[in-house]
Amino acid sequence: MLNKIGLIGGGNIGGVLFAEIAKRRLAKRIGLIDVKPPDLAKGKALDIAEGSPTIMADFDYDASKEYDALEGSDLVINTAGVPRTKRPDGTIPTREELLATNLKITKSVAEGIQKYCPEAIIVSIANPLDAIVYTLYKILNPPKNKLMGMAGQLDSGRYRYFIAKEAGVSVENVEALVLGGHGDTMVPVRSCCRIAGMPVEKFVAADKLEAIETRTRKAGGEVVGLLGTGSAFVSPAWAALEMTEAIIYDKSKIVATCALLEGEYGIDGLFVGVPAILDAGGVKKVVEVDLSEGEKAALAHSVEAVSKTCAEVDEMLAGL
Ligand code: LAC
Repeated sequence: MLNKIGLIGGGNIGGVLFAEIAKRRLAKRIGLIDVKPPDLAKGKALDIAEGSPTIMADFDYDASKEYDALEGSDLVINTAGVPRTKRPDGTIPTREELLATNLKITKSVAEGIQKYCPEAIIVSIANPLDAIVYTLYKILNPPKNKLMGMAGQLDSGRYRYFIAKEAGVSVENVEALVLGGHGDTMVPVRSCCRIAGMPVEKFVAADKLEAIETRTRKAGGEVVGLLGTGSAFVSPAWAALEMTEAIIYDKSKIVATCALLEGEYGIDGLFVGVPAILDAGGVKKVVEVDLSEGEKAALAHSVEAVSKTCAEVDEMLAGL
């Protein structure tokens, strides 16, 4: 159990995070900041606190429109920003189209972390994922183990779910990995996909796998299209908690994580989705997967997309 977990953003993901952290007893104190009037943060926190006797879970909280609610957090989870929402004409924006708006919000997020919990480990969920993590890095310059993004666990979870349904087996039997940026170029790595230790091809035909991988790449958009307003929020929150629990319980668990690469996979200075060992210090080590030539090319294509968005971040930050 940590002394305090800080949550930045009290929207859909923040609400699930708060409730789960309370229920799983992950922290003695939970901090929630959201600027939304009249006082969304206080409202969400009070609602969950009033449910705490029912789930028999003690916790204290700080909820505020100001970043002081983060004071003393050991770990913060950042969800601040606007989500993707279906347009009136039915089309769905890319995550990258959120950059201009969410970058400005991220600047305040970084200042809040700097002021109230500069030593905290940061897990960021806001989109465009890789570019927002990069923005936090550029502003805060934290030790690289202390800053990471949540995407790979969500994307791999989607891949695992689709495979499990197609193969007719429990999701518990399916292991999978999605690498690269958290955009439509993400790379489901078929050679890492196993069902109870056996190659996935033994259970699922090649054309079905192809279709599942395409669906995985677009899975976030599929949910946006169905919800009408906003994007997926339960699966992203659970995925971030998978990372958080690996850290809290010092598990040295390999989780697909958006981590800073400094030469791994031939990439330098970008945050990209890769398997990483997570322990009490955060990102302990990036694990390099042996990829086929096709997978290497797909990863390079995905990294190119991340790099392009990060170049926009550099430009925007210079203008702020
Ligand atoms: C998704 C958003 C949260 O993939 O990025 O659903």
